[in-house]
Amino acid sequence: VTVIITIDGIAASGKSSVASRVASKLNIPYISSGYLYRAVTYLVYVSQIDPSDQEAIVAALHTHPLTLIPKPEENEVWQGEENYTPFLHTTEVDLTVSEIARHAAVRTWVTEQLKDLPPPFVAEGRDMGTAVFPHAHHKFYLTASVQVRAQRRAKERPEDLESIQAALEMRDREDRIQSKPAPDAVVIDTSDLTLDQVVEQILKGVQ
Ligand code: C5P
Repeated sequence: VTVIITIDGIAASGKSSVASRVASKLNIPYISSGYLYRAVTYLVYVSQIDPSDQEAIVAALHTHPLTLIPKPEENEVWQGEENYTPFLHTTEVDLTVSEIARHAAVRTWVTEQLKDLPPPFVAEGRDMGTAVFPHAHHKFYLTASVQVRAQRRAKERPEDLESIQAALEMRDREDRIQSKPAPDAVVIDTSDLTLDQVVEQILKGVQ
């Protein structure tokens, strides 16, 4: 099958884990657009570019091209010979990524990296079902209460629960524009569901 399945959702709603499991059950690749936004953010950081300087960021993307490598378990992003993947899910990147992702030129660049990938695949992010793959066959949108999301994220970050929740609330506000569910997306509130239950619900929806 040459299907495109999109899984969008808010920060820490479980998108990546759900998308990679759904993809592996279907034996197709999964693609994380968040990894690309995070990699651009990391490039801005190591190149000491002003995060508000859109033109400098685009110039850096030309001199330091980033490549997304979809792997079954996790995605990787490489800059030339350097594997950026271990540096993408840090508190520093979390704090700046929304600002970087708001630049129209950055969104265009990321969208171009993704548009020509050959289906089938599961694509995960904020605007996969709206801007990038509006013709996707199956669209899902994950939400969860901020308390539940903070508890989940606390297992992956060194900070305390309170500051994690505050950072999530800030990112929710900053991501609001690019994070609307597609009108034809199935919305799943994962607050009271296990990972397996969400995966099961999506697999039922695509069969
Ligand atoms: O999905 P993840 O939380 O890793 O994404 C990191 C950030 O990248 C988001 O907070 C958002 O600012 C941006 N993003 C986006 N559009 C996407 C995927 C991610 O704006 N499709």
